[in-house]
Amino acid sequence: MFEDRIQSEELRAKIVSADEAASLVKDGMVVGMSGFTRAGDAKLVPHAMAKRAKKHPFKISLLTGASLGHDTDKILSEAGVLARRMPFQVDTALRAAINRGEVMFIDEHLSEMVEQLRAHQLPPVNIAIIEAMMIHKDGSIVPTTSVGNSASFALGADKIIIELNTSINPDFEGIHDIYIPEARPNRKPVGVVKPDTRIGTTSIKVDKNKIAAIVISDVPDSPSLISPADDATNAIARHLTEFFLKEVDQGRMDMTLSPIQAGIGTIANAVLTGFVNSPFHNLQMYSEVLQDSTFELFDAGKLDFASASSITLSEACAARVFPNIGRYKDRLILRPQEISNYPEIIRRLGIIAINTALEADIYGNVNSTHVGGTHMMNGIGGSGDFARNAYISVFVTKSVAKGGKISSIVPMVAHVDHTEHDVDVLVTELGYADLRGLAPRERAPLIIEKCAHPDYHDILRDYFDRACKTVGGQTPHILEEAFSLHEKFKKTGSMLG
Ligand code: COA
Repeated sequence: MFEDRIQSEELRAKIVSADEAASLVKDGMVVGMSGFTRAGDAKLVPHAMAKRAKKHPFKISLLTGASLGHDTDKILSEAGVLARRMPFQVDTALRAAINRGEVMFIDEHLSEMVEQLRAHQLPPVNIAIIEAMMIHKDGSIVPTTSVGNSASFALGADKIIIELNTSINPDFEGIHDIYIPEARPNRKPVGVVKPDTRIGTTSIKVDKNKIAAIVISDVPDSPSLISPADDATNAIARHLTEFFLKEVDQGRMDMTLSPIQAGIGTIANAVLTGFVNSPFHNLQMYSEVLQDSTFELFDAGKLDFASASSITLSEACAARVFPNIGRYKDRLILRPQEISNYPEIIRRLGIIAINTALEADIYGNVNSTHVGGTHMMNGIGGSGDFARNAYISVFVTKSVAKGGKISSIVPMVAHVDHTEHDVDVLVTELGYADLRGLAPRERAPLIIEKCAHPDYHDILRDYFDRACKTVGGQTPHILEEAFSLHEKFKKTGSMLG
């Protein structure tokens, strides 16, 4: 039943097949598509685009909120449709195409891309493809499980294609808070003063004449791919709990902590789930993606409110939460990603940011994106928006990867996403290093002792000692040896040699 979800007869006349809608996308266009961490993505039109491209090749620049589900990035990249892609992805096939140099990937802070669009620093979006759960009489669009960049794409594009998803629980309407910052100069402050502040509207107000096509869909979001907690992630959660208890003990916080942001992926989700068994209570989240852990904390009575840009759940959690979203509705807000990740709000609310590193170095610089320093993993996502502006910026990682052949603590990270200035606390399953107020020469021994795997202690200590003795400086490094562990891994398959 889609009729009652399109409240204008004039708009109902615009219903077409996915193939017909896809034919509106032309070679060379900039396409802005909904979708953020596999949630609320357009599901039918992009696949129809890939089908068409196999017969009649064409290329586009694809902009989204963040990552997409339904193998959309894989299917589009394999069909040769993607010339350029930004600002984030997590797909294995697209990742390979990026690393072969076939797709130009612009790895961008999630809060920033639509600012660049509005300021004409990027070519304008020609067509927006947006998933919606409802289209009102005036043409305004109610998004689904994510907001991402959908509002700015829809407002800025020449034409809009809507995928109306009838599988979305009607109770989702009212969860969204759509607000677009005013134009510069004289932009007023964005008025979010608490995670539950509403400042906008519950739908995206577009000119209905721009709606060029509507495609009916009932395809649910792809489930998230996170793995369950394991001994290492449980230990990371325990160390973080210990750290926060110390903060409470020292009078810097109370047991409700400060609003929490937690990054994507298995580790951040497991760490947050670990808070179910912590003594903290009446927690709040001001984050960008809500994973299973958010709803586990709600159900455990630990979490009072969660604000983000998307909800991305495992199959089991989605089956439990989405049919009952009405029960959580008054404790949830989904915002545009530039507001969920707005640097000034993050600083003002005093966010505790918990993000994941691929590797960190002995001085606290973090690489979250480039395997071996060269090959793209996923992208920086929102981690930079939060880490730089957080009240406490925490990075978590397991001390080793690939069965111990890679140390996550290295002399110098082979790519820097988060500088030492943006990293307050580093946590592995072995312990935490509180880096606040410490100089590089104080940080290194602490990180090695608390966070590095014992198999790598001697190698890292030896490097640091010799760097201090032979080179010196504020941040001692023997430059010709700084990547020796990475090189050893390349040559032998293990950083231990
Ligand atoms: N070198 C090479 N590979 C490494 C590595 C290292 N130093 N550390 C981890 N890996 C590999 C793991 O072995 C694993 O590989 P697999 O998928 O083949 O098993 C993969 O990276 C993911 O690691 P995992 O330990 O499962 O962590 P995760 O699922 O929590 O993901 C990141 C970790 C860093 C990839 C992920 O959090 C990310 O993309 N972060 C950047 C974006 C971000 O922080 N966004 C936050 C706001 S949304």
